[in-house]
Amino acid sequence: MAFPKQVRLVEVGPRDGLQNEPEPISTATKLELIARLGAAGIRYIEAASFVSPKWVPQMADHREVMTGLKRIDGVTYAALTPNLKGLEGALECGVEEVAVFGAASEAFSQKNINCSVAESLARFEPVLERAQQAGVRVRGYVSCVLGCPYEGEIAPAKVAEVAKALYEMGCYEVSLGDTIGTGTPLKAKRMIEAVSCDIPMDKLAAHFHDTYGQALANLYAVMEEGIAVVDSSVAGLGGCPYAKGASGNVASEDVVYLLDGLGIETGIDLDKLAAIGTWITQTIGRPNRSKVGVALAAK
Ligand code: HMG
Ligand code: MG
Repeated sequence: MAFPKQVRLVEVGPRDGLQNEPEPISTATKLELIARLGAAGIRYIEAASFVSPKWVPQMADHREVMTGLKRIDGVTYAALTPNLKGLEGALECGVEEVAVFGAASEAFSQKNINCSVAESLARFEPVLERAQQAGVRVRGYVSCVLGCPYEGEIAPAKVAEVAKALYEMGCYEVSLGDTIGTGTPLKAKRMIEAVSCDIPMDKLAAHFHDTYGQALANLYAVMEEGIAVVDSSVAGLGGCPYAKGASGNVASEDVVYLLDGLGIETGIDLDKLAAIGTWITQTIGRPNRSKVGVALAAK
């Protein structure tokens, strides 16, 4: 299979990138981040998460973020909604797209959303029904597709089973999360091969964290298989509250640089993106994990 001609980036920095930050980040900073990302040509931004503030305090201002953002034509602003309560809140704020998130690991599912994998799928069904009634598209996530912090190895067949359930339930796209970033390229390819037996390749996305520095290599491997949607986070921000030690998503700047080099179109302005990475890491006092961002800033 050849590389895709175009790749769509899903910027998860405002959600996945910030959800684990221990110090409060102001709503104004989040809104400015979202505005700058849109201005750099990003066409899909995961802006907030309608989860319990007791579980993830950093996302407690989801309503203010969702209603405060200044929409740019052609940009989708999405939110995570783990249950009907989350969805109702998101709908009240005028969200146009949401995501449910499940896992290929029982232990991670319990820690992350307080229920088994089967219970989570049963919980998502009414979310999809209600969202469809409201004309809101639903994306599905599967976490721990290349390893689990509690269970270790995860069988590709288990990933395929959960991904298929989400797709058949009506998720228009399923994003495959290497939550703890332990995957390597061959393993990533095998996982994609297993999942794409049941789901068309153009309905799949790669959501790779970079804990072990493998995310770009893994992306290269799965794009060779035909994956054309990539989740990433500006400056490589992030970590998962329920996956100790997991570092951020692959940096958006690094992905865009790689894609530019491969002649794959994204429509994103790399210099503007790198400047956002410098700004947000300075603002929240975090290291910039994008090698490309750091190199461009030093020029
Ligand atoms: P629960 O405690 O089992 O829920 O949590 P419950 O239904 O028993 O309700 C308990 C309390 O939570 C009640 O409040 C509810 O109202 C409230 P109380 O009566 O005690 O005051 N509640 C809510 N509040 C706000 N929004 C809601 C909501 N639902 C219930 N939607 C729940 C279940 C799923 C809510 C909880 O476990 C939770 O919020 N978990 C958050 C997990 C999370 O956000 N994890 C990070 C995102 S996933 C991720 O990062 C991975 C990903 O990036 C992909 C990858 O990398 O692999 C997507
Ligand atoms: Mg993630």
